[in-house]
Amino acid sequence: MSLVSIDHGRCRRDGACSAVCPAGLFENDPEGFPQFHADGEQRCIRCGHCVAVCGYDALQHEELPLHEAALLDSSLQLDLTALNQLLQARRSVREFKAEPVPQALVREAIEIARWAPSAVNRQPVEWLVIQNPAEVRKLAGLVAEYLRQIVEPRYAHYITMWDQGKDPFLRSAPHLLVIHAPDDWGWSTVDSTIALTQFELAACARGIGTCWAGFLMRAAAGHQPLREALGIPEGHSVTGALMYGLPRYRYHRIPPRQAARVTWR
Ligand SMILES: Cc1cc2nc3c(=O)[nH]c(=O)nc-3n(C[C@H](O)[C@H](O)[C@H](O)COP(=O)(O)O)c2cc1C
Repeated sequence: MSLVSIDHGRCRRDGACSAVCPAGLFENDPEGFPQFHADGEQRCIRCGHCVAVCGYDALQHEELPLHEAALLDSSLQLDLTALNQLLQARRSVREFKAEPVPQALVREAIEIARWAPSAVNRQPVEWLVIQNPAEVRKLAGLVAEYLRQIVEPRYAHYITMWDQGKDPFLRSAPHLLVIHAPDDWGWSTVDSTIALTQFELAACARGIGTCWAGFLMRAAAGHQPLREALGIPEGHSVTGALMYGLPRYRYHRIPPRQAARVTWR
C-alpha cells in the first residue's frame, strides 16, 4: 500500500500535487496521472501540500487523511488594516491582573501555533504551561538564584530589585509558557522561535498579554535546579518562554520604531 494514492476517477491531471511537492515525489504515469515514488514513504516530509492543493479530493495520504484536513473558507475576508494593527500593537506586557487567563484561550493559541513552519516539517516543539502563580514565583526565585551565582555585573541591578521584593525576571506574571525541543535537531531554536512568535500573536489577538522571558531562558540553559523544576526531559533544552496574563493596562498608541534597513537590488 502506497503512502499516497490517487483516485483516477477524481484526478484532473492538473499536475498541482506534483508541482508543489517539496521533495519531488510524484511522476506522471503514461496516462498523465501522478504516481507517488516507490521510495516516497521515506522521503516524504508529511507537509501535506499535495493534500492541501488538490481541489478535487483525488489524493489520499495515509498519514494526513482528508477528514483531518480542514477545508479553507474562501469567503473569509482578511482585513489587512486590522491585521497590520495587531502586528504593530502587540506589546511586551509586564503588568498583569491577578485574574487568571482562561485555559481555553491558551489552548486555542497553542492550536494555532501548531501551524508554524518548521525545518523539514519536523515540528519539534513541546509545550509546558505553568498555570499556577505560586509555581511561577518559585521559578522566578530559581532564576534569581542562578543570576546571583554567575555574578555578571549587568544582572546586579535586577538581583537588587528581586531582593527588594520586586520580580524583574517573570514580572509577577500569573502564568508562564515554556517550550523545549530536542538538542539533536539543528533547527530547534529557529523552529521554536517561529512557533512562539505565532503563539504570541494568537494570544495577543485573544486579549492575552505576553512577554518573552529572556532571563528565564538564560537561566534554564545553565541552572540544573531550574531545569529540574521545569521538568525538561533529558536531551531537550528550553528554546523559548513567555510570561503571560491578562494585561493590567491598555495601550493607546504604537511606539515608533527604527526605519527598516533594507537593501533593494
Ligand atoms: C528573546 C527576547 C527576550 C526577552 N526577554 C525579556 C525579559 O526577560 N524581560 C522583559 O521584561 N522583556 C523581555 N523581552 C521583551 C523586549 O524587551 C521587548 O520585545 C522590546 O523591548 C520591544 O518591546 P515590545 O515587545 O513591547 O514591542 C524579550 C524579548 C525577546 C525577543
